[in-house]
Amino acid sequence: MSDRRVLMNLRGLLTPDPAHAWAVDRILDAALALENGRVAWLGRATDLPAAWIDAPKVDGGGAWATPGFVDPHTHLLFGGNRSGEFNRRLHGASYQQIAAEGGGIRETVRATRSATVAELVASGEERLKAFRKRGVVHLECKTGYGLELEAESRLTAAYAELKKRGWSFDVTLLPAHDLAPEFAGDVEANARAVAEDWLPELVRRHPGVARFCDVFVETGVYTADQGRRIFEAGKRLGLIPRIHADELSWTGGAELAAEVGAASADHLMFCSEAGMKAMAAADVTPVLLPGTTLFLGMRDWAPARKMIEAGCRVALATDFNPGSCPCVDPLTILRLGCLQLRMTFEEAFTALTLHPARSLRRGDLGHLLPGAKADVLLWDVSEMLELVYWVGEPYRPRLLPA
Ligand code: NIG
Ligand code: FE
Repeated sequence: MSDRRVLMNLRGLLTPDPAHAWAVDRILDAALALENGRVAWLGRATDLPAAWIDAPKVDGGGAWATPGFVDPHTHLLFGGNRSGEFNRRLHGASYQQIAAEGGGIRETVRATRSATVAELVASGEERLKAFRKRGVVHLECKTGYGLELEAESRLTAAYAELKKRGWSFDVTLLPAHDLAPEFAGDVEANARAVAEDWLPELVRRHPGVARFCDVFVETGVYTADQGRRIFEAGKRLGLIPRIHADELSWTGGAELAAEVGAASADHLMFCSEAGMKAMAAADVTPVLLPGTTLFLGMRDWAPARKMIEAGCRVALATDFNPGSCPCVDPLTILRLGCLQLRMTFEEAFTALTLHPARSLRRGDLGHLLPGAKADVLLWDVSEMLELVYWVGEPYRPRLLPA
């Protein structure tokens, strides 16, 4: 028997339209017809088609309805936290300085290597609940705090278990998140191990768990050339590239993303204009992470406006991780998108819904047009813009019960 419901009594409904890059439909006094967990019809309540008049009704309580947020860049699983390092930064040490002394990512690698799969699953599930409470219905989640095969394999196993428990996310393999201490600075040998041994073995051990692979291409980490070789190896295994690019300096990351057909290039604070054009031409989604710029106290915000003008479909993400952005809150990112990246509310909203879903190759997420998954958020505000306007107000959406 099919499950049919109509969501009624909505002040309005706001949804991006997947047929256009930046169009947002705004329907007042809306209704939403749902069938078997999918949107079947949307429009003004007074226009509800006759076939739906007798279907069971769900009371929206006068709220605004939107699609759930999609977060396309998180480092969900790791051991420990770095509040001690944060305190050092508040006393003047820089992120790069702490990393050069063996702290930073390396500290989290040590804590993650000593965590069991069960511990990783338990903390990961708490974080997924925290995201969901704030309206994030789907995420991209990376490995990367193992930096060696067995620890990366435990992270992938933990993601497999979380998927089994019904959580909705995509996995990206990131054993090239930093240089592994075991290689003592032999970056070439480290890149070879990632491309020739670790990625193939992770895919063999955990078939079907990961869809993407990622490399931190940065001065002092992997070069664009090493990144290219790792991506080519990943593609041979069926993994689609995403890339940490031009985050702390320009390294040609956006250009490389376009060349290898990456789904996304992420960070991009130091992206070149040629890189922006290349991303637009190759349909690479720039994923901007303003929470990281804020948390690292950097002055250079990613050039979102220039990217939009270049024709890029910009997305926003939290970059949730213990070092550069311990943030699970999409509203903080929405506010930074508007206030620091100079995006309009509609652009920032699209960048946290439709465009991330597109970069994850999920046509049924990030909008509420017919066929979309019925991941509906209900917001008790009189205008959606208030989510940004009332700075710091901890709005929580109601999630439409399944
Ligand atoms: O996305 N760029 C590298 N990775 C993370 C930070 C990792 C950490 O500090 O633990 C990022 O910013
Ligand atoms: Fe990241």
